[in-house]
Amino acid sequence: MKPPIRIAVFPVAGFGSRFLPATKANPKEMLPIVDKPLIQYAVEEVVAAGVTDLVFITGRHKRAIADHFDKAPEMEADLEARGKTQLLEIIRSILPRNVNCIYIRQSEPLGLGHAVLCAQPVVRDEPFLVMLADDFIDSETPVASQMAAEFARHGSSMLGVQDVPREQTSSYGIVRTRPFADRLEDVSAIVEKPRPEEAPSTLAVIGRYVLTPRIFHHLAHVKPGAGGEIQLTDGIAALMGEERVLAYRFEGTRYDCGSKLGYLKATLQLGMKHPEVGAEFTQYVRTL
Ligand code: G1P
Repeated sequence: MKPPIRIAVFPVAGFGSRFLPATKANPKEMLPIVDKPLIQYAVEEVVAAGVTDLVFITGRHKRAIADHFDKAPEMEADLEARGKTQLLEIIRSILPRNVNCIYIRQSEPLGLGHAVLCAQPVVRDEPFLVMLADDFIDSETPVASQMAAEFARHGSSMLGVQDVPREQTSSYGIVRTRPFADRLEDVSAIVEKPRPEEAPSTLAVIGRYVLTPRIFHHLAHVKPGAGGEIQLTDGIAALMGEERVLAYRFEGTRYDCGSKLGYLKATLQLGMKHPEVGAEFTQYVRTL
């Protein structure tokens, strides 16, 4: 058994242009699904998996994320004075006490691979999770926990994957695989955003990765790829020359909350399940 994963990296420097104007001054990761920002769902997922160090790769216009995970003394004092204990508890319990937040600025948008490389001075020589908050996954067991458990068993880098319609391959990293174990496949090739007619399969990488620290060596050497960016996919392709990389078919329903349609679907589903408003909202939806 491998020791548990301690560190998760959250690349959050992207512009979120698909959500303009909502994301002009507000980070896309702060868009709420009902009453909780996307980034908080992603953080809760890794905290449930035992992670204690959260590394945010951030950029200008992203201060709201750091504020969200910081203490809010004035708001807490105000809620306390007004006896709003439930709300006070909600904002105090955003992060458990043993969890640390570390912020690294990615000053130029050079790509997801470059964002992950920015985490190297903190991650150093440990395996770590990478979480893309706009891939929102509703599941019984948080996907980060599912993957951390598989990593403890196999010790290999691992990519969260699911099948997508062939016409969508150009939005994803796509893998070619061989059978390995239940829910797990051995990755033999990976390409970033192939055209449908060129894609090696329809198995797409979704924003959940467990990576061994050797990835940094490769990310430091890969040349700009698709879209002229340093791609994490290309770093993983190079890593595969040295180490086994697995694809993990996670359990759960994934919503692409980087797109308006996916975001609306997630909001609808989570709204209908929400402990406070779910029953009434479901009734309302049925009248439509
Ligand atoms: C990124 C990755 C891609 C992956 C996708 C998952 O693309 O580059 O390989 O499949 O996330 O959401 P992006 O959505 O940032 O363009």
